[in-house]
Amino acid sequence: MEAETVLETKNALKDFEGFVAIRDVSIDLKQGEKHAIIGPNGAGKTTLFNLITGHLEMDGGTVHFEGHDITGTAPHKIVKLGLARSFQRINIYPRMSVFENVQVALIARDGRSFHMFTLGYNLNRGETDELLQLVGLHDAADEIAGELAYGKQKQLELAISLASHPRVLLLDEPTAGMSPAETVEAMELIKEITEARGLTLLFTEHDMGVVFGIADRISVLHHGELIFSGAPDHVREDPEVRRVYLGEDHGAA
Ligand SMILES: Nc1ncnc2c1ncn2[C@@H]1O[C@H](COP(=O)(O)OP(=O)(O)OP(=O)(O)O)[C@@H](O)[C@H]1O
Ligand SMILES: [Mg+2]
Repeated sequence: MEAETVLETKNALKDFEGFVAIRDVSIDLKQGEKHAIIGPNGAGKTTLFNLITGHLEMDGGTVHFEGHDITGTAPHKIVKLGLARSFQRINIYPRMSVFENVQVALIARDGRSFHMFTLGYNLNRGETDELLQLVGLHDAADEIAGELAYGKQKQLELAISLASHPRVLLLDEPTAGMSPAETVEAMELIKEITEARGLTLLFTEHDMGVVFGIADRISVLHHGELIFSGAPDHVREDPEVRRVYLGEDHGAA
């Protein structure tokens, strides 16, 4: 039996004042799959993420999450529904400790407000510890987030994304700026967490070794259009993908 569709865009369109960054993109995510979106710089990957998570307004088309139409829904509401994301650029509180960054995410999830004085050390302590353990940052709990090595800041972002108890996780270049070794390690961790928690994952990544090592399905964007979506084994053989993505425009064949 085919897995249930948990996230779906239909004919998504984004027009930046005449520049169409996303054109007619219909993409779906099956429960539990690890789905990669690849494509050259500027292909529209981040824009598509922003449309899905409500950070950008759609100029056409719809987004459905677990059967509900979430087109035009505010980002914080979408997170509450169970769809979390990370950003291509680091998005943490650099002056707070690692522990506090995760704690604040949990407090926000529970709908409590926080400020200097409500950030009690014991609030959500157990769950904060658990999340830090999960991403391998337990030993760094008291360090200042902004002073962590880049790879560790990305791990912290992952813990923050997981704080909202998502069922679907969107990761925009979770390994951007990492060394090849860090990249492999980070993606292994993401794979493990995704599988252990039964999450559905949509991610972008430039390292093809990582993409092919992890993805169950690969979608290819090119100039804002979806030119392929299917099994990793098939993507390499697809003539259009080869032409536009693998740089075989001038192939003699
Ligand atoms: N706010 C904006 N206004 C105008 N153009 C934009 C805006 N955001 C993105 N673009 C353009 O849309 C296109 C797609 O950008 P996007 O960031 O989605 O690409 P990407 O596939 O994520 O690239 P990368 O691999 O470099 O992260 C680019 O040409 C970009 O310049
Ligand atoms: Mg991007």
